[in-house]
Amino acid sequence: MKKLLALLLALCLPAGCAPKQLPEEELPALTVIGVSQMGSESGFRVANSQSIHTTFTEEAGYRLLFEDAQQKQDNQIAAIRKFIQQQVECIVLMPLCVTGWESVLQEAKAAGIPVILVDRTIQVEDESLYAAHIGSDFQWEGEQAVGWLEETFRDTEGPVNILHIQGTLGSSAQLGRSAALEKAIGRHENWSLLARLNGDFIQAKTYEVTAQWLDSQPAPPEIHAVYCENDNTAFGAIQALEERGYTCGPEGVRIVSFDATYQGLTYCLEGKISLEVECNPMMAPLVEEVFQLLKEGGTPDKHYYTREQLFTPEDLTREFIDQRAY
Ligand code: AHR
Repeated sequence: MKKLLALLLALCLPAGCAPKQLPEEELPALTVIGVSQMGSESGFRVANSQSIHTTFTEEAGYRLLFEDAQQKQDNQIAAIRKFIQQQVECIVLMPLCVTGWESVLQEAKAAGIPVILVDRTIQVEDESLYAAHIGSDFQWEGEQAVGWLEETFRDTEGPVNILHIQGTLGSSAQLGRSAALEKAIGRHENWSLLARLNGDFIQAKTYEVTAQWLDSQPAPPEIHAVYCENDNTAFGAIQALEERGYTCGPEGVRIVSFDATYQGLTYCLEGKISLEVECNPMMAPLVEEVFQLLKEGGTPDKHYYTREQLFTPEDLTREFIDQRAY
C-alpha cells in the first residue's frame, strides 16, 4: 500500500519534481482481518476465496491475513489462535464442520475479537460466540432439490432408484442437504436409496467412490437419479457413469446438483445436469458491511441468508452463463 501510494504520487507529479513521501504516521492505518478458509475443494470455494481477496484489499483499507486450512479443522483452530495473537480486528471463519469450535471461539471472545461465520454454520450452545453468520440455508436448498425430484417422478409408479453422493460429513452444507433427501425418501414408498457415498465435495474423490461402487455391483444397477451435494461431486459422478455407458439427462439418469457454478450451469445447459440449486459464494461484500456495522457498535442479525435460485436447462442460455461471476 505504501509502495502504491508512493508510485501514485510519483506519477501525478510534473517531471523534475521529487515525489513528496507522506510521513509514516500520515499513511492511513489498515484494518487487519484474519480469514480462515477451510480449503479449496470446489469451484464454489475458489470463487468464495476470490470474493474475499477482491473485497478486503489494501486499497479498501484492509490488511488481509488469509489462511487455507486444507480441509482440516485443526488447521482452522490453529489459524484462529494465530489471529488472536496478531490482535486482528475481526476473524472471518468458513467452518469445515459444525462441531468442535467452543474453546477456540471462547478464546476469541475473551480477546474481544468478533467472529463472522461465512458460508457454513456451526452448532454451539452459546450463540454469542459468533457475531453473525452469512451464508446459505442448506436445508432450504435440499428441499428445493427434493421438490423438483418429487415433481419429476410424480407419475412414476415403479421404483425410483436414487444414488446419494454426500459432501464433507458433518458440515452444515452436507447435513442440511442430506436431511432434505432423507426425509423425502421416508415419505415416498417407491423411492429407494441405492447407496450413500462420501464424495467430500471433491470431484476426484467422487469419481473414485462412484466408479468403485458401480464396479462392485453384480450387474449395472438401474439408476433414476443421482443427488450430488455440489457441482464437483456431480462432475465426478457423471464421469464415472458415462464411462460405464450411462447417459445423464432427461432420457437417462437425472443428475441433481448444488452450486450453479459456471461449469455446473454449462452441464445443465447441455442437459447432463437436470437441476442446479444455486449456492452463492460471493459473500464478501456483505461480510464487509457486517464488519463495518460491528465497528460502529451496531448489532447485526444473527443469520443472513443469501438469495438463491434454481436452474433447469430451459432456464439457461450461453449468454446468461457467460455473464455470471463464478
Ligand atoms: O458450503 C458450501 C459447499 O461447500 C458448496 O456447495 C460446495 O461446493 C463447497 O465445497
